[in-house]
Amino acid sequence: MLNNKEYYKILNKKEGYFIINITNLDLNTMRNLVEKHYIKKIEKNYPALKNIFKENKIINYHKNSDKIDHSKFWVKKTRILSKKDVEKIKKLQFFKTLEKIFGPILISGTFDGEKIGHEEMYWRIVRPNQNTDRASLHADKWFWDLNERKDFIPPKNKERIKVWIPLHCSKYMGLKIVPFSQLKEFDYQTEIRQGIRKPIFDTSKYNLKVDSLDSLPTTAVIFHDNVLHGAALNEGEATRISLEFTMFVNLTNN
Ligand SMILES: [Fe+2]
Repeated sequence: MLNNKEYYKILNKKEGYFIINITNLDLNTMRNLVEKHYIKKIEKNYPALKNIFKENKIINYHKNSDKIDHSKFWVKKTRILSKKDVEKIKKLQFFKTLEKIFGPILISGTFDGEKIGHEEMYWRIVRPNQNTDRASLHADKWFWDLNERKDFIPPKNKERIKVWIPLHCSKYMGLKIVPFSQLKEFDYQTEIRQGIRKPIFDTSKYNLKVDSLDSLPTTAVIFHDNVLHGAALNEGEATRISLEFTMFVNLTNN
């Protein structure tokens, strides 16, 4: 393991991201929590379909996804894990590793009066060969800048660092990232989609070196809020599932 200063240097001054390995035990715990959450949501909204999706498992979701109003149903709100699930994940070994690197970690979440309420960890679902299921290149910071929600404002002296964990993913079919991009400024347009102002980024204006990460389960990607990243097209045979959250951490005075 590197020392804390070296991790901060990578995030702030170098590539802008690094990878930590997670154990199979941690991976299986997160896979089970997400699978249960997925079935629970389907059961609630499509009770007649519960068994078919339960038997087929989440990685085969695409085989029956025509029975579900995919883009309307799987909005972020539906994919946010419960507070109880978040507490379980915070007890896992990889989270302890994150705490060793960053110190105390606060996770962004719903705004509750003066303080952050429920810390949010949410999963994503991307079907094979579905271009519209994936996110194009962007920096998370753009979303925070465009939507002035109070829960998006980091507490004083804290910075936002994102964690992305592939739970079911084929090699090179997960996250794409532009190293060092957090050090540069990029122009983007905006539009309102589903009530949220979103950035539109014309990548052809820039000569970007995009890296496709291995994205194999048991790797977690930790990246700076301003790093350009996006999702690769899922050209595998299974539905891709990932888990993510934003940490507020102290990146200075360390
Ligand atoms: Fe993002």
